[in-house]
Amino acid sequence: LSIFEKVPEAGSLADLSTLPRHVGIIMDGNGRWAKSRGMPRAYGHRAGVERLHDIVKATGDLGIEVLTVYAFSTENWKRPAAEVEGLMKLLIEFLYREIDQLVENGVRIVFSGDEAGVGETVQKAMAYAKDRTKDNHRTTFNVAFNYGGRQEILLAAKKLAAQAAAGTLCPEEITAERFAEELDTAGLPDLDLVIRTSGEQRLSNFMLYQSAYAEFVFVKEHWPDFDERAYLRAIGEFQRRGRRFGGL
Ligand code: FPP
Repeated sequence: LSIFEKVPEAGSLADLSTLPRHVGIIMDGNGRWAKSRGMPRAYGHRAGVERLHDIVKATGDLGIEVLTVYAFSTENWKRPAAEVEGLMKLLIEFLYREIDQLVENGVRIVFSGDEAGVGETVQKAMAYAKDRTKDNHRTTFNVAFNYGGRQEILLAAKKLAAQAAAGTLCPEEITAERFAEELDTAGLPDLDLVIRTSGEQRLSNFMLYQSAYAEFVFVKEHWPDFDERAYLRAIGEFQRRGRRFGGL
């Protein structure tokens, strides 16, 4: 079912004629959601993947250009090894299982983050997903995995510095746009809307450069409870805010 069949009042929750181009989601609260049910954290992550499936589908149905989700941060390595391993497995499973439907829905998968820093089986699944979906143009689904915003900015600065030191780049040529080309999101528009679930109001190193002018919507639901209705409500809230980009 498309989001329009699942949520008949979609048009009253958000204005479907003017949508954000790029939505980012910090999927928080899986652990607390599981705990409140007396279940292990892994159960929450698994429920979170189901929700991700629905939200990616809805993003495509709505015709939103880009969805970026924060699936694994560079800080997440500090979690117990079993949980880290579980998240890696969930990503691999998700990529192989969802690929046919993503292709059918015209979704292209890309990744942000340090791909070389994850295990070989994860890298293989990422390469497979990218390759299978590379000719799709309806929606770009960007999975931030082993991602950290500061690390990404530092790496971009280092690459530009190396070019300047080699004499192939003049420092005056380093504009905001030129800088953005060195980020993992090169070619994607800036984030318009960042949603964080589970009531926390932090950016946690997510897309620091790309969300400079984004609107932030914080919702109380834990990620496994964030359904299509909640998604449309968040988009509706974004639409009610007046964005001025520093102007009047
Ligand atoms: C935050 O919840 C969530 C994460 C660190 C991982 C997000 C991952 C998923 C939704 C599933 C993985 C999906 C893929 C495709 C890899 P938390 O564990 O920090 O929750 P808590 O704050 O309640 O403990």
